Amino acid sequence: LNTSITMTNLVLFGKPGAGKGTQAAFLKDKYNLVHISTGDLFRFNIKNETKLGKLAQSYMDKGDLVPDEVTIQMLQQEIENNPKAEGFIFDGFPRTIAQAEALDDFLTSKGMKIHGTLALEADDEVLIQRLLERGKVSGRTDDQDESKIRNRFVEYNEKTAPLIEFYKKQNKYHGIDGIGTIEEITTRLSNAIDALK
Ligand code: AP5
Repeated sequence: LNTSITMTNLVLFGKPGAGKGTQAAFLKDKYNLVHISTGDLFRFNIKNETKLGKLAQSYMDKGDLVPDEVTIQMLQQEIENNPKAEGFIFDGFPRTIAQAEALDDFLTSKGMKIHGTLALEADDEVLIQRLLERGKVSGRTDDQDESKIRNRFVEYNEKTAPLIEFYKKQNKYHGIDGIGTIEEITTRLSNAIDALK
């Protein structure tokens, strides 16, 4: 892996629908980062009917998190698959304290680290409306009814929200207002990334 001092590794954090995937698509090009979305990886495996996809599907359909063991292994493999990366943008990972600790340990073992966690912040009701809209066209089974969307927020509150303190303790947490146009939010994120350097 490229462990040079110029490497930038970012966690893009936020509740379901906060805009992680949308923003990662811009930031990966702007900063030349490899975008790793665990949600996209699971959806790819489901579409291709792999063993991993079959395992993940039952959890994702309900809006539950996929077990840590499976997710951590998949993420580590994806990092290994990109030995020439100049940096990574992690989208949808970590989502539990166990995942965050495993990520830190794994990166440390490679001479790497997380430089910052950028957290897109927005109210639940705005996010639920965004996801219900997307569910009409995206075919994502976990967007199609409000009870599944609400379960994803319950999972977030129980398992993912503790990461805010985890990253604050490491002085790596940067809250970003997630309401506005996509361009406005990209600018806010870019300013935060530039300030990390
Ligand atoms: P994942 O794919 O990560 O889904 P999510 O966190 O629920 O996030 P979304 O993709 O729904 O939202 P996003 O923040 O990326 O927003 P987006 O840009 O798409 O995970 C899905 C499932 O996989 C999980 O529930 C779990 O089962 C499993 N999983 C994944 N990772 C896991 C892990 N680490 N551990 C365990 N399980 C895991 O935008 C949302 C919508 O809003 C879009 O329609 C977009 O066009 C729109 N939008 C974006 N920005 C704006 C804006 N500024 N204004 C208005 N609309 C906007």
